[in-house]
Amino acid sequence: MATKTLCVGLIGCGNVVSYGHRPALTTLPDVELVALADITPERRTIGQAWFGLSDANLYADYKDVIARRDVEAVVVTVPQQFRRQIVLDAFAAGKHVLSEKPISDTPAVAAELCAAAETAGVTFGMVHNYHFFPEYRLIKRLIESGEVGDLRVLTMNYLGVIDNPGAAEYKADWRHKMGAGGGVLMDMIHAVYLAEWLAGEEASQVNAFVDAPTYAHRQPEVEDLALLQVAFPSSYALINMGWGQGVGGVDVSGSGGQIRMRYKAYQTSGFNQPIELYSVKDWRRTDYAIPNLPEHGDNIARSFTELWADFRDAIREKRDPIAPARAGERALHLALAGYLSATIGRTVTLPLPEGNPVYQQGINGMAGVNAWDQSHTRSAGLFGLNG
Ligand SMILES: NC(=O)c1ccc[n+]([C@@H]2O[C@H](COP(=O)([O-])OP(=O)(O)OC[C@H]3O[C@@H](n4cnc5c(N)ncnc54)[C@H](O)[C@@H]3O)[C@@H](O)[C@H]2O)c1
Repeated sequence: MATKTLCVGLIGCGNVVSYGHRPALTTLPDVELVALADITPERRTIGQAWFGLSDANLYADYKDVIARRDVEAVVVTVPQQFRRQIVLDAFAAGKHVLSEKPISDTPAVAAELCAAAETAGVTFGMVHNYHFFPEYRLIKRLIESGEVGDLRVLTMNYLGVIDNPGAAEYKADWRHKMGAGGGVLMDMIHAVYLAEWLAGEEASQVNAFVDAPTYAHRQPEVEDLALLQVAFPSSYALINMGWGQGVGGVDVSGSGGQIRMRYKAYQTSGFNQPIELYSVKDWRRTDYAIPNLPEHGDNIARSFTELWADFRDAIREKRDPIAPARAGERALHLALAGYLSATIGRTVTLPLPEGNPVYQQGINGMAGVNAWDQSHTRSAGLFGLNG
């Protein structure tokens, strides 16, 4: 029996579409992009050429995409602060939703969206595409096979994140504004959900330093450095995150050994090959090759294609996708708990309580918490705090 094609509407046609969703949506069988909405006319024209759409399938208003009967699922790739109403409207129309990360800038909104999807009975997945990088899959498989014994500490070094601007036709610097809900940690929340996935359990506590220098007398609004210590019930993670040119790579320490993963020249993003990945067990090193590993751009494109295939199959099979929205909600809590910890100078317990201003308003709620007078986050004047 022929399988039914999943008809998709795209809402937001920025940079992530160019290298991620475009290769997935133009190559994957049984998935077809039929409509596109973007508020920026130039981005609609760019998307039209990428997907070969007629003028009738391009919209300035996302509501016109959601109103189409043939659209079964939408992918919401606008910046996170604009997702809420779009996602709620999609659920109200019975559409499945694939959301870019982070799920939102606010835990209260994330909870509202997850509950709305459950009420509507539709699939709500996250673009947590790093689950599909073969290097992370191999690390996960090695941990699960007992290669290092009991997991003790995961070190996720992401100190060389490339500070890529957004699409020039829109607002290239939106990631550096309060509206983004955070800086580099929010942008590279990949490391956060990966830590939980590799640990195999949900985080319970976070302790952090979060900072940013003042460049050329410009007051930073969000961080460019976030150093988090995360406690899971039976292990720990260190998430070291920075925009810049610092060290990248992942280390896994266990009761019986270690795993190390490095990109070329210890870089973070760019995912430059070759990847060095080895374990050390009983003082003996075993090197692992990753077969058929494409160059980094194609590795990213392939991760999106595999993620889309999983989302398509999750809808068909009425199961959760590998990255369900609730995982996006937990990652958001963890990142914001890091900002909160750095502001109040104390360890924060997860999940954030509903009464906390940060739960209700994300980083906009930071002005309502009791900031520690020696907090570097506060003295840097981040998140609307007075230095
Ligand atoms: N999964 C990943 O690896 C990955 C990589 C990059 C970005 N992202 C995420 O994707 C999202 C977009 O990032 P980007 O780099 O593509 O940004 P971008 O600035 O390049 O593009 C944003 C696009 O959204 C459009 N837009 C804004 N508001 C809209 C609205 N209300 N309706 C329709 N269109 C609207 C803009 O016109 C623009 O074309 C962010 O949430 C970001 O975190 C994910």
